[in-house]
Amino acid sequence: MDTVALQSRRVVSAMRPTGKLHLGHYHGVLKHWVKLQHEYDCFFFVADWHALTTHYETSDIIEDSVWDMVIDWIAAGIEPSAVTLFLQSKIPEHAELHLLLSMITPASWLEQIPSYKDLKEKSQSTYGFLGYPLLQSSDILMYRAGQVPVGEDQVAHIELTREIARRFNHIYGREKDFEEKAEEALKKMGKKNALLYSNLRKAYMEQGETEALETARALLNDQQNLALGDTERLFGYLEGNGKIILPEPHALLTSSAIIAGLDGQKMSKSAHNTITLRDSEDIIAQKINSLPTSPNTLNKCPVCQLYELYSNADPAESQQEACGAPGSHCVDGKDSLIDLINTELKPIRERAEELSEHPEDIRRIIEDGSEAAREVARDTLEEVREAMGLSYK
Ligand code: TRP
Repeated sequence: MDTVALQSRRVVSAMRPTGKLHLGHYHGVLKHWVKLQHEYDCFFFVADWHALTTHYETSDIIEDSVWDMVIDWIAAGIEPSAVTLFLQSKIPEHAELHLLLSMITPASWLEQIPSYKDLKEKSQSTYGFLGYPLLQSSDILMYRAGQVPVGEDQVAHIELTREIARRFNHIYGREKDFEEKAEEALKKMGKKNALLYSNLRKAYMEQGETEALETARALLNDQQNLALGDTERLFGYLEGNGKIILPEPHALLTSSAIIAGLDGQKMSKSAHNTITLRDSEDIIAQKINSLPTSPNTLNKCPVCQLYELYSNADPAESQQEACGAPGSHCVDGKDSLIDLINTELKPIRERAEELSEHPEDIRRIIEDGSEAAREVARDTLEEVREAMGLSYK
């Protein structure tokens, strides 16, 4: 069941610093972040520990990639004053929550995750790689995120996160005298609200009215004078089970379209088919001009695929439009494609250059953001430890 998260305005997302950001990152995720930053309370971070799960042998690229990534985010429109920007490894609580959650995670849940199954067949896989979706769950649950903007390939990880949260709440959300405590908490809302809550709870419990559940949750979110523990109790009490300590997040799908790289396959660093956000005009022209075109085939060539990203063509229409058909761009369109990409990247490139001249500013942004994130993380951990019987008061 959905919980506090449904109403939560909190968004958490991250990228792994494994190299230069490219158009795939920009169109796939980053543009979406820029939109979300003013609508939600956003926590965006650089997932440096996640980078180690696949790049432990080439970890020397991580540090530079961290700073370049933050520069690219800001150059692309992320405003440090509007969001909390931080670095995962500056918040050791992520590691602690990962460890604690690992105790309740059936190994088979991790073994069944598609990214693990796929890679395991190709190469030897480490303990860290097996566990990384759980590390991601910790990243998300730490901030009690309601929404997690991710690409399609990450949906299984959000689903895992939901199951872990459910399991955690089920095991540790049960307290002695739960009902009495919930009733006591209710009194703190004042007579009128308490009555409203009780009626809504009854309507949901007895009649299954989901609208009543939503209204009751909204009512709880509006309560200013409840302690966090009481709010969690009352959220849990609505559904009858116990305290909701870690709310379940939702995936916020960024873009269903896969951004094609220079070879027509998904753009990714490992496929060496990228246009990076900092490629110069000359490099972009060179890359596009050297692309093969394949008019009149059913599979669109990379020029057509990239062109689609920039044209406002109706996606249904362009689906049917094979390469070489009227209106397609693979043969004559290279120059205009180069123009389109350059127009988009020019301001980003210039801003990134400016920002690169002041590395101390970037470090300060990350220091400040990490400190703010850590405060939230400390609170969550305190509650998690207490629920698990590790508070030693
Ligand atoms: N695993 C994500 C990726 O590879 C990055 C990531 C790490 C993330 N932690 C996260 C994304 C938390 C969203 C929320 O792209």
